[in-house]
Amino acid sequence: MTERSDLAELAKRRGFFFPANEAYGGTAGLYTYGPEGAALKRNIEAVWRDQFVRAAGHMEVESPTVVPEAVFEASGHLETFDDMIVECAECGATHRADHLVENAVPDVDDAEAFAPRRIADLVADHDMACPSCGASLAGRPVDEFNLMFGTNIGPGSSSPGYLRPETAQGIFVEFPRLKEYAHNQLPFGVAQIGRAYRNEIAPRRALVRVREFTQAELEHFVDPEFDEPPIAPVADVELPLYGAEAQRADAGGTETYTVREALDAGVVGSDWVAYYLAESLAFYERIGIDMERFRYRQHLPGELSHYAADTWDAETELGGDWIEVTGFAYRSDYDLRKHGEYAEAEYTVFRQYDEPKTVERATVDPDMSYLGPTFGDAAADVGEALESLAARDRSAFDGDAVTVAVGEDSYTLPVEKTGFAVEERTESGEHVTPHVVEPSFGVGRLVYSVLVHRHGTDEVDGEERTSLALPAEVAPTTVAVFPLMTKDGLDDRAGEVAAALRAAGLAVSYDDTGNIGRRYRRQDEVGTPYCVTVDYDTLEDDTVTVRERDSTDQTRVAIDDLPGAIDRLVGGATLAEL
Ligand code: GLY
Repeated sequence: MTERSDLAELAKRRGFFFPANEAYGGTAGLYTYGPEGAALKRNIEAVWRDQFVRAAGHMEVESPTVVPEAVFEASGHLETFDDMIVECAECGATHRADHLVENAVPDVDDAEAFAPRRIADLVADHDMACPSCGASLAGRPVDEFNLMFGTNIGPGSSSPGYLRPETAQGIFVEFPRLKEYAHNQLPFGVAQIGRAYRNEIAPRRALVRVREFTQAELEHFVDPEFDEPPIAPVADVELPLYGAEAQRADAGGTETYTVREALDAGVVGSDWVAYYLAESLAFYERIGIDMERFRYRQHLPGELSHYAADTWDAETELGGDWIEVTGFAYRSDYDLRKHGEYAEAEYTVFRQYDEPKTVERATVDPDMSYLGPTFGDAAADVGEALESLAARDRSAFDGDAVTVAVGEDSYTLPVEKTGFAVEERTESGEHVTPHVVEPSFGVGRLVYSVLVHRHGTDEVDGEERTSLALPAEVAPTTVAVFPLMTKDGLDDRAGEVAAALRAAGLAVSYDDTGNIGRRYRRQDEVGTPYCVTVDYDTLEDDTVTVRERDSTDQTRVAIDDLPGAIDRLVGGATLAEL
């Protein structure tokens, strides 16, 4: 589909999506999916669920969208989930300052990593103008703006909360319980499809950058030492990769690597990420992404999220621009470690040894009747510091005295007052913090990309036709039923045919308005792959015409066989094979 105005017009007219709250002037970055769009989105989610939950044997959860502040203190979002903004003194418009810099300064492509001061200097040095009114932005301050929507949980302000900026935290925070459902055994995956919220500075391009959106996220918890993805079955899968090095090279572009080549050459650093890049290709194809307009792009260091060790984005090409539709992040142990530090629960899994091991443990049992009078208020901290020093460096206790640091101060005491001892213990295993591999899909961006990629025009019966070549599995309607005329019992018979197809579990629409050619065009425009027409022959021989959207070919099928025939078509059969 030619994007922007054509798409916006079709999306609104045919019920895919439209700006929300237009009766009240509209709200930037918020969209309502109409009946066709909501069905398309649900179907894409169903394919995702089928592949990443059912077929993969993972769990799926639904966590709240309102989350207390403490969770985002631990996750780092409160501190770092910011974009840089600059406000125009003349017209008051606010802009993403790092994007202005990237657009205006050659060779700068990851300004997100720069400090606000440096961005402000670049804005001034290049005398950048406000994109809204043209006034100079030189000298304007660049501020950090947290993208989370804040709220209060309950009356008053004692319990601040936020609308979740990613569904992932709802999984991480519940890890202590989720691991029990996985029988405390790694690896296991937990998925979630749900709404997330980001108070974007500049929402744009319809469903691409919005303030409320749907994520489909899988958090795969793995043992970093022992769990490996099944690379052999995907080793020869070809990946279109646009790595960080290629992005820096003047003439760099997307290159095809097999999974094995990408790993051997170190283009993709993580086996797990490579595995998911390969696994996801089938999903994109299944929902109708044009794979000629698709690539995997590695994040440049400045783009990496605060939690990510390595990230690749799946990107689709829309109107000459590349748009992120999925992030594949190796989040390491970042999230579980942080929640383990901040929360009152265990964010680890017990890893059983093959054989019990005898290990030495250095312990302390400080003599508080000495520490109290000697160190006063600092005594408890000195005790804790001794404990951690013993675990870290037992040789510190080799002499007669030992020194520990507490903040800026250091404290020395006789070793005999520390109760230092080395014990032998038999241990059956150890606690490990799992690492997380995260494929995170933006559902709205996938819906939008599919609409753009599957739209086309051709000529039918000497007239231009607009159609959406959606795969049958995701099309909002699988089969449309028409009576040739609304008389002579044709409409009653068509109603019965539609009811029988619905009873067989198919998504059916019934249309008896306008001439038959217009009805075909309407269904072509919303991507319905098959149309069934009840005509005068039907009354004679109980057959109907089945017409295929893409070829516009037609054949006659017995009504009794119709649900099975549609099923076979959806499964890949051609009209000739019915
Ligand atoms: N969970 C990854 C993201 O929201 O971008």
